[in-house]
Amino acid sequence: MTIFIAGGTSGIGYSLAEHYLAKGFKVGVCGRDVSKIPENHSENFKAFEADVCDINALSSAVNNFLLNDENLDLFINCAGSYAEDVAGNISYEEAEEMLRTNILGTVNCFEVARNFMKDQQSGGIAAIASVSGILDYENSSLYTKTKRSVIQIADAYRRALKPFGISVTTVAPGYIDTQKLRNLNNNDLSKKPFLIDEKTASEIISKAVNDQKEFIIFPSKMKWMMKSLSILPASLLNIIMFRKAKWMKND
Ligand SMILES: NC(=O)c1ccc[n+]([C@@H]2O[C@H](COP(=O)([O-])OP(=O)(O)OC[C@H]3O[C@@H](n4cnc5c(N)ncnc54)[C@H](OP(=O)(O)O)[C@@H]3O)[C@@H](O)[C@H]2O)c1
Repeated sequence: MTIFIAGGTSGIGYSLAEHYLAKGFKVGVCGRDVSKIPENHSENFKAFEADVCDINALSSAVNNFLLNDENLDLFINCAGSYAEDVAGNISYEEAEEMLRTNILGTVNCFEVARNFMKDQQSGGIAAIASVSGILDYENSSLYTKTKRSVIQIADAYRRALKPFGISVTTVAPGYIDTQKLRNLNNNDLSKKPFLIDEKTASEIISKAVNDQKEFIIFPSKMKWMMKSLSILPASLLNIIMFRKAKWMKND
C-alpha cells in the first residue's frame, strides 16, 4: 500500500508517516524543509521538498514517489499554517501564508491526488481541518475561517470524486501536542482542553481514513463540547468564544 502525506516533515504529518511505516506502507512525505526529518528511515520512506502552494512541484513529488506506475492508495494533507491570532495581531506575511497554505494548498492537494487516483477507481484522500472550523461566529480568527474553508472544500471534492471510487475524509482535530503548538504557546499547553498526543491522533485519523468516514471530530469530549456550543444563538456564542480567547491569552 502507498500513502503520500503533504506536510509530513513534522508534527501530525510526520507522526502519521511513522504510523503507516510501522504498518508496512510505502510512505512519501513532502514539506518545504525536509532537513527537519530525523535520519535513518527504512527504504519504504521517501521525503520530497515541495510547497503545496506550487501544484507542479507537488505533482512531481508524488510522481517521483510512485515509481513503476504504482497506485496511490492514500493521500493525507496535513500541510497547514497557523499562528496565535486570537487577538488579531498577526502580520500581513502570516496572514498571506495562512490563506495560501490552508486554502490554495488544500485545493492543490485534492487536484494532485485526484489526478493520480482517477483512473484507479479507488483511493482515499484526507484533509486536516480543525475543530475550530466547525463553529460559525463573527469574531473567529482568520485561521478558524481558513479551516472552515477546508471543510467546505473537502465537501465539494467528496461529491465530485465519489463517482471515481475515491473517498474523502475531513478531519477536525482538537488540540494535539505538537512542537509547533508548543512553540506558539511558550511551551505551556495548560490552557488547551482535552489535549491529546500525536500518536493517539495518528491512530484515530488512520482508522477514520481506513473506515472511509466522511467527517471526524476528535477527541470525543471536544466533539460534544463543540456540538453543545453550535446550538447556541450566534450572539451568545460570539461572547463565549471572545472570553475564551482572552482567557487563553491571559488578557
Ligand atoms: N496541533 C494542533 O493542535 C492542531 C489542531 C487542529 C488542527 N491542526 C492542523 O494540523 C496540521 C498540522 O499541524 P501541526 O501542529 O502538526 O504543525 P506542524 O508541525 O507545523 O505541521 C505542519 C506541516 O505542514 C508543512 N507545511 C507548512 N506549510 C507548507 C507548505 N506551504 N507546503 C508544504 N508543506 C507545508 C510543514 O512542513 P515544512 O515547514 O517543512 O513546510 C509541516 O510538515 C495543520 O494543518 C494544523 O492546522 C493542528
